[in-house]
This record gives sequence, C-alpha cells and structure tokens, in this order.
Amino acid sequence: MLKLRNRTGVEIAVLPYGGIITSIATPDRDGQFADIVLGFNDARGYLSDHPYFGAVIGRYGNRIANARFVIDGLNYMLAANHGRHHLHGGRRGFDKHEWDSTVDGDTIALRRVSPDGEEGYPGRLEAAVSYRLTDANELVITYTAQTDQATHVNLTQHSYFNLRGEGDGDVLDHEVTINAARFTPVDEELIPTGRLAPVEGTRFDFRQRRAIRESYDHNWVLDGGDGELRHAASVRERTTGRTLDVFTTEPGLQFYTGNFLDGSLVGKSGRGYARHGGFCLETQHFPNSPNEPSFPSTLLRPGEQYRTRTIYRFGVS
Ligand code: GLA
Repeated sequence: MLKLRNRTGVEIAVLPYGGIITSIATPDRDGQFADIVLGFNDARGYLSDHPYFGAVIGRYGNRIANARFVIDGLNYMLAANHGRHHLHGGRRGFDKHEWDSTVDGDTIALRRVSPDGEEGYPGRLEAAVSYRLTDANELVITYTAQTDQATHVNLTQHSYFNLRGEGDGDVLDHEVTINAARFTPVDEELIPTGRLAPVEGTRFDFRQRRAIRESYDHNWVLDGGDGELRHAASVRERTTGRTLDVFTTEPGLQFYTGNFLDGSLVGKSGRGYARHGGFCLETQHFPNSPNEPSFPSTLLRPGEQYRTRTIYRFGVS
C-alpha cells in the first residue's frame, strides 16, 4: 500500500494494482476525519469482481459502440465486454493490471506499458499516472501517454465518493453543481446519439446547486476553452459540511450515481454498498468519441504527447 499524508492530516492510500485509490481520509467541519471513498479493507477485495472502485480506467474510459473503430482506413475490433460494446478498456483494462510505482515526497507515480494489441487497441502505449497531494487538500492527478502507432486514449479515475463517509447511506441528498450548459444524450444502451443537447429545462441542468435526488450515468459537456483547466463540478454534503470541487483540462464529465450498486458488495465499514451509495465524477473525453467525428478527438499519434490533468479539492463549508 502506498500512502500520502499532508500537513492538515488528509491521507490517501493507493494500490499499485489498478492504480486504485483505496481510501481518502478528510476532515468534516468539526475536524472529524472519515474515509470518503468506497472500497474494501483487504487488497484481495479488489481482485474479485467489483465496479471499478477507485481505479484508473484505460485505455478508454466509458463506452466505444460495437467495440470497434477505424483509424486511417484500418478497422480495429476491441474486446466486447459490455454486451456488444466496449466499456472502460475491455475485459482486462488498466484497472486490472499491476502498475510500477514509486512514492516521492507528496507524489505517487504509476507507470505501465500497454502492449500493442491489448484488448484490441493498436500500438504500444506507455502510460503514466501521478497522484500528488498538496497541503491545500488537493489531489492533483496527471495522466500522460505516448504511443508507437495511432491509437485512442481516454484515461480517467473511477473513485466513488460519499462525503458523509463511505458506507453511510446514499448520496442522493448531496448537492451538486456541474458547470455545463450541454450534455451528450444517449440511446437505451448509453451510447451517445452524437448530439450535444442544452441542459436548459431538463433534469440535467446542474448549473445551480441542487440535490442529486435521482439516477445519473451521463456525460456533461463542460463549459470552457479547449484544454484549459476548468472548474467542472462542485459537491456539498450538508450534515458534515464536506465539499468536493473538481477541476480538469478534459472537455467532459461522466456523473455516475452508483446505480448498479445493489448492496451485495460489503465495504470497509462492514456494510453493504446499496444503490446510490456513492457517486463518481469521471473527467474524460466524451463516450464513443472514436466513432463520432464531431466530438473532440481521442486519437493519439506517434510523436504526440497525451497529457491531461484533474484536481479533486477537498474542503468544508
Ligand atoms: C461508468 C459507466 C457506468 C458503469 C460504471 C461502473 O460510470 O458509465 O455505466 O459502467 O462506470 O459500473
């Protein structure tokens, strides 16, 4: 287990397996610490079936329709691990591999080489993820990658948060702001239709802070310029005062409310994680971008540097 601890006592633990963040302990408004991410006590828990708790997702976060894409006229078939579609990198994505790891001061650095052809993707991809914990209670995540053949890359982090503390009920009364005037509507298999629709007048409008209340598993088109660090979302939990702010250079944000949790997975506190027991804010490019030419591109060519940054800032109000 790799650990970071800052001057205010915030502590983050990470497993080299999957780059999994296994715990994040932060104070509430009275200075009481709690672990605010879902997961298991025992490293073995992460080796069995679970819905990507805390993991790095690669090569591609979210869905690629029909598990295929075309690059330069060549057709690539990916692993179909979600019906006929490809989800979160395939059968054995980056979440299910051991990463090389080092801890240096305030930073955990993870690396892995994804071989040419892994899960169907072209090119040998050298990927690196770093987790840096600042004294301002920010977890700064930097993702980089290079390839030796044109391929698609869309790395993200799949932590499930409950700002009351993991295992403490559902998150539906957490209050959320998402800085996005548009979202990507999906079909019944959660594949984007290709349209960017206004949130105005829909249940996807989170521009004013409000309680979550219902299920979401959608991608928002974040406001702001190309590649610049933007304030994506903000979450507040009233009883503890804990807040979470997300900043990212990515154009999209998947807001997922743990709809598939059903109480069968028993977490760190010994309680089962029920439906809506945690939420994910997955910063990313839009789902199915390889097959949607109008979406910002996820194509990475040899000689190019993939580099994105996401910051989770923990606070109290
Ligand atoms: C993402 C997907 C969801 C689901 C979860 C993990 O958020 O969009 O549909 O796969 O990951 O269960």
